[in-house]
Amino acid sequence: MSFSILGTGMYVPPKIVTNDDIAKLVDTNDEWIRQRVGVRQRHISTNETAADMGAKAALAALENSGVKKEEIDLILAASVSGESISPSVSCMIQNILGVKCMTMDINAACSAFVFMLDTAAGFFARKRVKKVLVIGAERLSRIVDWEDRNTCVIFGDGAGALVLGEGDDYLESVFHVKGGDDVIDIPQLIGKSPFFELEQKKPYIHMRGQDTFRFAVKAICKDSKYVIKQCGMRFEDIKYIVPHQANQRIIDFASELLHVPKEKFYTNIDRMGNTSSASIPIALDELNRAGKLQKGDYVLMPAFGGGLASAACLVRW
Ligand code: UT7
Repeated sequence: MSFSILGTGMYVPPKIVTNDDIAKLVDTNDEWIRQRVGVRQRHISTNETAADMGAKAALAALENSGVKKEEIDLILAASVSGESISPSVSCMIQNILGVKCMTMDINAACSAFVFMLDTAAGFFARKRVKKVLVIGAERLSRIVDWEDRNTCVIFGDGAGALVLGEGDDYLESVFHVKGGDDVIDIPQLIGKSPFFELEQKKPYIHMRGQDTFRFAVKAICKDSKYVIKQCGMRFEDIKYIVPHQANQRIIDFASELLHVPKEKFYTNIDRMGNTSSASIPIALDELNRAGKLQKGDYVLMPAFGGGLASAACLVRW
């Protein structure tokens, strides 16, 4: 047994920041951002934490599923932009929801949503849970260097959530990690130890854009092909590929290399920017609520990012 998806939810903060707004902060322009990244606007939090947004997405998913919050046995959350190292974001979401279940955070940056689904599948397989909330929640505006045009144009804030129940619809997955901080790094504050001799790196997102880009295109293609093959399927059998929304050009390259039509890739990066662990569940919720997914449809979710980590999974809706 693995699980079935019972409901989806999302939340993005109301404030919209356009490319023109960002051009007032750094030397950039709307045309460059649209062409090189594919973002027109992003939602940015003015007074909500990652956990606040995660709790709102969770409530929307609970309502969509018809499951009561008291039925939840486990909350899995992912965030690289929570306010505290402890309590974790999942602990804070549990607190906001006012429930008593076990909680756990998974740190795998932009790939974390797939890592969480696999973790959830393990709990279901061992019959330890009947209902699980899985939430990606990010206030990336907290960890973006708003003076760095290479990164501040890309990211946005928001949260997405799924309610999972017993079932057999999580079909296959694959994971790769090549650890290191040279391509993507989000350093913590080093603290005030009088004995520690290393220098503080700015505690913001550092990214070597082109290296990340090349890694991302390869990862989407390799992981997607592997999962499809393991299931004895072809891309024609997949209703939607819902990739991590990092850059429209990454998705377009993957579409060309895989010979899969662009229409099969669901994208919302133009409206949302890159919301890291929240991007796949936000996209799933949009598809679900637009009535674009029917029971039995196959959905492929490739993700990649900091770590460097990548993952992909196939679910039956
Ligand atoms: O979610 C985690 C995973 N993240 C990703 O997958 C992101 C992957 N990487 C990317 O999306 C892209 O590499 C970026 C969007 C970060 C950068 O795009 P790029 O096409 O790789 O640009 P580049 O770094 O090669 O820079 C090209 C030029 C440079 O100018 P010169 O040296 O050619 O004169 C940059 O200085 O564009 C310049 N540039 C900008 N110009 C206007 C870089 N950022 C900007 C900007 N506005 N915001």
